[in-house]
Amino acid sequence: MDGVTVIDHPLVQHKLTLMRDKETSTASFRRLLREISTLLCYEVTRNLDLTMVRIETPLEPMDSPVLEGKKLVFASILRAGNGLLEGMLDLVPAARVAHIGLYRDHETLQPVEYYFKAPEDLANRLVIVVDPMLATANSAIAAMDKLKERGAKNIRFLCLLAAPEGIERFRAAHPDIPVFTAAIDSHLNEKGYIVPGLGDAGDRMYGTK
Ligand code: PRP
Ligand code: URA
Repeated sequence: MDGVTVIDHPLVQHKLTLMRDKETSTASFRRLLREISTLLCYEVTRNLDLTMVRIETPLEPMDSPVLEGKKLVFASILRAGNGLLEGMLDLVPAARVAHIGLYRDHETLQPVEYYFKAPEDLANRLVIVVDPMLATANSAIAAMDKLKERGAKNIRFLCLLAAPEGIERFRAAHPDIPVFTAAIDSHLNEKGYIVPGLGDAGDRMYGTK
């Protein structure tokens, strides 16, 4: 599908299976999400531009590559996005972080915003938005609207699981934003849950419900 990358690395798929299993404990779910996020981070940053800098090794001077441009921004859609954020920061500790507080109303499935804090200069940075679940896409679309309103121009969206309906709606709303996911599941049920999915990501991460 155009603009959608499925990250089918065997370690990602193995860990995702463990996360889907309803017998997996809260502690294991959280640990697996952190582990899987480093693998996803590796893929979503795979084609970042590099620039050469002059350094001296203990043996001689050389030109060597470093990431080009300003530091990345990782934008976490609260709460569950924080599970992906942690592992991403393990790999890119200098990244700036934005927090977007959204929850979806269980009746209407519409996102309700309760918090937003992001670096000022979003226009000059690559923003990677993270949320484990892309279901109806209402939350992700609202998050992208907000980031664009604040000047972001170069955005990628990283999730763990997506519903085909969500991908279609997201791509229609934000065709300029590529989507990275570990799997595209079968469908959404009547309550807006991804099937077969893994349940409610936030509840499973934090042991709420
Ligand atoms: C979940 C998930 C996404 C959203 C996806 O969050 O983490 O943000 O639902 O659903 P959508 O694509 O239909 O909008 P939730 O609203 O349950 O909040 P939480 O992370 O605070 O638990
Ligand atoms: N949010 C979740 O956490 N899980 C779903 O299946 C859908 C939305």
